[in-house]
Order: sequence, then structure tokens, then C-alpha cells
Amino acid sequence: MDVRRDTDLRPFWLAGRPVTGDAKLTVTNSHDGRVVGVASVPTPDQVEEAVAAAHAVSRQAAALPVHVRAEALAHVSRRLSERSEEIAQLITAENGKPILWARGEVGRAVATFRFAAEEARRFSGAVQRLDTEPAAQGRLAYVTRVPYGPVLAITPFNFPLNLVAHKVAPAIAVGAPIIVKPAPATPLSSLVLGEILAETDLPEGMFSVLPVPNDRAGALVEDPRLPVVSFTGSGPVGFAIKDQVPRKHVTLELGGNAAAVVLADADLDWAASRIALFSNYQAGQSCIAVQRVIVEDSVAEEFTGKLLAAVGALVTGDPADEKTQVGPLVSEDAAVRVEGWVTEAVSAGARVLAGGTRDGAAFTPTVLTDVPSDAKVVREEVFGPVMVVQRVGSVDEAFAAVNDSKYGLQAGVFTRSLDAAFRANRELEVGGVIIGDVPSYRADQMPYGGVKESGIGREGLHSAMDDLTYEKVMVLTGLSL
Ligand code: SIN
Repeated sequence: MDVRRDTDLRPFWLAGRPVTGDAKLTVTNSHDGRVVGVASVPTPDQVEEAVAAAHAVSRQAAALPVHVRAEALAHVSRRLSERSEEIAQLITAENGKPILWARGEVGRAVATFRFAAEEARRFSGAVQRLDTEPAAQGRLAYVTRVPYGPVLAITPFNFPLNLVAHKVAPAIAVGAPIIVKPAPATPLSSLVLGEILAETDLPEGMFSVLPVPNDRAGALVEDPRLPVVSFTGSGPVGFAIKDQVPRKHVTLELGGNAAAVVLADADLDWAASRIALFSNYQAGQSCIAVQRVIVEDSVAEEFTGKLLAAVGALVTGDPADEKTQVGPLVSEDAAVRVEGWVTEAVSAGARVLAGGTRDGAAFTPTVLTDVPSDAKVVREEVFGPVMVVQRVGSVDEAFAAVNDSKYGLQAGVFTRSLDAAFRANRELEVGGVIIGDVPSYRADQMPYGGVKESGIGREGLHSAMDDLTYEKVMVLTGLSL
């Protein structure tokens, strides 16, 4: 068996074929700086070939029998499962994510493709009787959803496999060709996904994985042969894409400064352990990592004690170590930025209850309090292992504090009260409310996306399949119903 060395050049996927270009992208591990892979970068002509192939196959793709799409998706799910340990190690190597979380990510991607295979078989459209009025006697509407066409997927570094899966799987399920532009820091997992996709019977042109640099993404965004742009990443980049192509169908999964609310009736031990872990998992580099902790006054002291104990017990260090819960950020630059934001908050009066120090790309799990409300660590997305504890006097104040944000992705509310749960669901301006757990909870089949500056559109298999398609109606006339 051939063993791939980390320094071997990895081809990209052009219309389903492994190809090399004329430049290289070297991927390093942020924990120890070692080279973990070298991806080949396509030339502009090769990118053109991939787009032309996606465009050329789009009619055939939309007409692919469902069993072909579903079997391809099921194959990817099975192969990800068979290769799960190898892929988890690769995610840890390229992203710096602890192996604990990398294994979780591969497991989720297995499920994402499995759900897509199942959903493809269910996605059937509807029949509507029109003879509700005398004028439409003998008429019937046959309503289906058809793909807009080839999808450009621009994916982030923080889940280099599963957030790619969330774009590729629904596209294949609805019969839309897809071109993936992975994050330059973490292209390797998506290249392995390309390897597995190439084992299927999907037609040529159905998928390409093109690790082009960010400054070449604009041309792809503008290409009229790619009518859908699905982007996950930062708000400024996402909204710049929307502004660049206002007439395209653009889906944006953007950032957040997710809040966890701890009401007076909550199970404080559970809340403390979950918030400690999910503010810091993946070093806080998830759009739904807990950033703002909003706790009712009457339990604030007791809760904060438990929270600090739980944060202090987190295992930090080498992401390859089985026991590590909190590893480095994706790069030293990212950690330096987080450090700058914490320093700025402290200069403005914040108190550091835990952490606040940096070592290379690693930042210690950090708890801040008394933070001025205009500090970046409150208002912007930290994307690092930093949480801000804020005390409030009532449920009213707690929910108002959650909504005092330009973002609205998910919120968590720790309470045992059903009334409070339904009230949270009514009042919180977010795409998802998680009762009894952190905002970081996501099941891959559920609708996922934000309001306000957290984005446009929804992922989650069924929702994404709706999002990549439009409703088309055929009216049959002259029928005896
Ligand atoms: C994200 O960072 O938006 C994705 C979170 C997840 O899939 O768990």
C-alpha cells in the first residue's frame, strides 16, 4: 500500500478528476508548526474548466434519478465512516482542533451525508387540487422543487469537513453540481472528501474541489454560470459577496456572539459544566460557541464559582492528545487578535476571572466580567476561548441582553420552566433557541442559520435542499378527478 507523506503534493478535484496545477498551498499545524500537507492550486484555466463542466452537466444532474443521488450520498457516508480515524487525524493536523472534537466532526459528517441520502428519497414535491373553484374543474397542480443550478460553496476553516458536507450533500441530493472553494488554512479534509466523491457514479462535472486563494474567489462569485453562492464565514466577507452579486441566490452562514442565559431555576452544575466546555471547544472557533453568559443575580455568585471550577478543570494542550479538550487556535495571528481584544477590554475596566494569557497559537480559557458593553469581546464575534459573564436582575433583562446584539444565530437558556422556554422562543431574536443547553448545540438535520447580521438562509439537510431549489408548478387540465 502507498503511504502518503505529508510533503507529497495532493491533487485537487476538477470535474471529478484528480489534477495538479502550477502552484502549491502548504498547510501547517498551529500547535507545532510542522507541515501537514501540500495542496496543489489550480490555474485560472483549470478553474474555468471546472466551471464549464459544472454548467455543462447541470441539466443532466437535475434529471439524475433519485436512487443514483441517494446511493452516491450513502456511499460517501459509509466511506467517511470507514476512514473516520484517518480523517479525524487529518482535521486535527490541519486545523489544530483536538482529536476529541475532530472525531466528533467526522461522526457528524457521516450523519450529514446519511441524512442527505434519506432526504433525497423523501423530497417528492406535492400535488394540489385546483378544482376548489368551478372555473378550475378538472385541473391539478403538480408542484416540484428544481435546482437553481450549479452551486459555488465557499467554506470556512473551523469545521473543514462537516461544513463542507453541509453544502455538498444537499447539492447532490437535489441534483445541483457544486464547486467547493475550501478555506486556505484547511483544504486537506475537503480534498479527501473529493477523493471519496470520485468513487461514486456521479457524472463528470458534478463536483470540483478547488483550493484557490481568497483573492481569486471574486471571479468565481461573479461567474454567471454559478447562480448560487453558499458562503460560511465572516460577516464582512459574506455581505460583500451579497453586495457583489445582488441578483444571485446567496446563502450566508455568518458569525455570532452567542449567549447562554442562566435563570434562577437552572441546574447550576449542568449549566456551568456545559458553558465551560462549549465556550472553549475548538478554542471557541465556532459561530455558536458561548461568548456571552447572562446570569440572574440571585444565583450569579454560586454559578460563577461553579463555572470557574469547570473552566479550571478543562484539559488544554496538544490537540493530538486524546485527553485534550482545548487546543490552539487555527494560527498564531488568530490568537494574537484575541489577546488584543482581551487587553482592550481589561484596559476599559474588565476583570479577568480566569485565563487571559497566550502562548503561540494557544490562548487560555478566559472568563471576563464587568466588561463595558461596547467592548469588542461583547459586541463582535471573538472566535476564541473567551466568555463574558454579565449579571441581570430579571428574566426581562436577561432576554433584552441577549437581543442587544447585531447578531442572532442561536441562544441557550438554562431553565426548568416551560413558560420561560416558550417565552424565550417568542422573544429571542435568533435562528435557534436551545432550552436546557448551550447555544452551541446543533443536530445536523435541524434548520440552522441566523437572523440580523448572522446570515441569510438556512442549512440543515431539508432546509438546505429547499434553499438550493425553487418551486415549479405544472398545471394539468381536462382531468376527471
Ligand atoms: C458554525 O460554526 O457555524 C457551525 C457550528 C456547528 O456546525 O456545530
